[in-house]
Amino acid sequence: MRLDKFICKSTEYSLVDALALIENRTLIVNGIITVEASHQVHKNNVVTLNGKVLTPRPSRYFLLNKPIDMICSNVDEQYPSVLNLLDVDRVTELHIAGRLDADTTGLVLITDDGHWSFNLTSPRNKCEKVYKVLLSRPISDDATKRFLEGVLLQGESKLTLPARLHIIDSYNVLLTLTEGRFHQVKRMFSAVGNRVKSLHRQQIGNLKLDVDIGQWRSLTHAEVEALSVHE
Ligand code: URA
Repeated sequence: MRLDKFICKSTEYSLVDALALIENRTLIVNGIITVEASHQVHKNNVVTLNGKVLTPRPSRYFLLNKPIDMICSNVDEQYPSVLNLLDVDRVTELHIAGRLDADTTGLVLITDDGHWSFNLTSPRNKCEKVYKVLLSRPISDDATKRFLEGVLLQGESKLTLPARLHIIDSYNVLLTLTEGRFHQVKRMFSAVGNRVKSLHRQQIGNLKLDVDIGQWRSLTHAEVEALSVHE
């Protein structure tokens, strides 16, 4: 973790305060005064501020059921951020691990653990996300095969990774992806001549959405572990 972030996670100081403290040569990492805010602090490092050893607070992990017309961003824009729904301390330290569009509903994970969310969203780790899709036209016969083989999204040169389609009925399907390209589900259906009318993420890995719309809860330690990548 960067030294400036490490200070914020260990104290009540803001990022601006942390930068000033670093500049004023008050931070000592393993016995050496450190003036680089980007200095990487590792697990076994000892960081002191005015002679006091800093210990970071444990990371936080939340699951939230995103309503329509809210955005997965740290700031409000055309619509309010989903972070407004969380009544927890230090919301500004949190970020969203795998965003959904404003018109998509469902499972969103929120954390202050950048390493965890990076691994979770990296296509290298093949974490499955399941989307329930309502289509504007009946699903075509060849869609299952084409999604398994990968489709070319408009403006891209690499096929999508194999994706599983489960047909509920001709307008309702489940799509399981292991990557998260920009507007991927909508663009995949567009590539096979269809259009998404509504989209809902119901599962990430083994974690199923189990709170009502607009509600949230903390993840258990076991759930965090199950979604972690152990290198
Ligand atoms: N794919 C989309 O097109 N939109 C989302 O919100 C998520 C996946």
